[in-house]
Amino acid sequence: MPNIKKLIKELPKAELHIHLEGSLEPELMFELANKNNIQLPFLNIDELLKAYDFNKLQDFLNVYYTGMSVLIEEEDFFDLTMMYLQKCNEQNVKHVEIFFDPQGHTKRGVKFSKVITGINRALKEGGIQFGISYKTIMCFLRHLSESDAFDTLNEAKDYLHMIDGVGLDSSEVGNPPSKFQKVFSEAKQMGLKLVAHAGEEGPPSYVEEALSILKVDRLDHGNRSMESEQLINRLRSEQIALTICPLSNLKLCVVDDLASHPIKKMLKQGLLVTVNSDDPSYFGGYLIENFNAIQESLNLSEDEIVTLIKNSFIGSFLTTKEKNKCIKEIDTYLDETQGQ
Ligand code: ADE
Ligand code: ZN
Repeated sequence: MPNIKKLIKELPKAELHIHLEGSLEPELMFELANKNNIQLPFLNIDELLKAYDFNKLQDFLNVYYTGMSVLIEEEDFFDLTMMYLQKCNEQNVKHVEIFFDPQGHTKRGVKFSKVITGINRALKEGGIQFGISYKTIMCFLRHLSESDAFDTLNEAKDYLHMIDGVGLDSSEVGNPPSKFQKVFSEAKQMGLKLVAHAGEEGPPSYVEEALSILKVDRLDHGNRSMESEQLINRLRSEQIALTICPLSNLKLCVVDDLASHPIKKMLKQGLLVTVNSDDPSYFGGYLIENFNAIQESLNLSEDEIVTLIKNSFIGSFLTTKEKNKCIKEIDTYLDETQGQ
């Protein structure tokens, strides 16, 4: 294995932008559809895979919400979470901050309690089994109203010990962050961390709103920040972490090809960028596949890869002490393998 691929595989990594429902593999989707008597609009896996040909975010979201409709019971959420953790274990991902979309389930009549307890039980068991630490981030669907988001936040109140933050996802254009100002402010008062998708398809002004109006602690995607010198300066000076998702950007046509992906420029500009998989089962790869693809396309150096991996811990919601321990493990690995 070439040195740089070995480095990507072996270094301990964190993932900060992964939608649990986006890790639903086709095999599990059909297995759960059979078990739960859900009629999918695809006859078989081949037909499903043909639908994974997206021109924009909304094309994907339509398939994503159909796919998650097979998740009904607490054990379904448990199994899905466990499968993702198994993948993390194979890829040496040591810390995960997982998004989930409760409204994608409660709108179909699945109880919030089943979603959150299934996920939490797997994180507890899998976390111990594989030595993976975790945080959970409950996302509000931005195509729904702020009042719907408040209902979800209220439902979460009995489960706050299982939830670390709130996020904002789904159809971006036409649903600016400012639409959710009040619910984010309440979530912050409840002690939750704040993140939001912005600048994936939406304009730089959405990134500005996420920072100034929602007051997010971290920004998801943020690609289009590169269109504004002022935003670049702000992201650099405040060292706001950006969770970049290369294969997602390619599949959703946010970039024409990975060779024109902005992540290398972002690094050179001193931005705190990280690599993530977003919806790995739909976009062709988990964390390592994202690193390998972007490394090859942009000819990223070992130093750049190490920076990206260290950033994944720096940008996480771990404590400073926990972050330092992870960075030290990376440095120890590098010391021990130098010159090999
Ligand atoms: N939900 C799942 N993946 C998403 C993405 N990339 N953007 C917005 N919402 C999402
Ligand atoms: Zn996302």
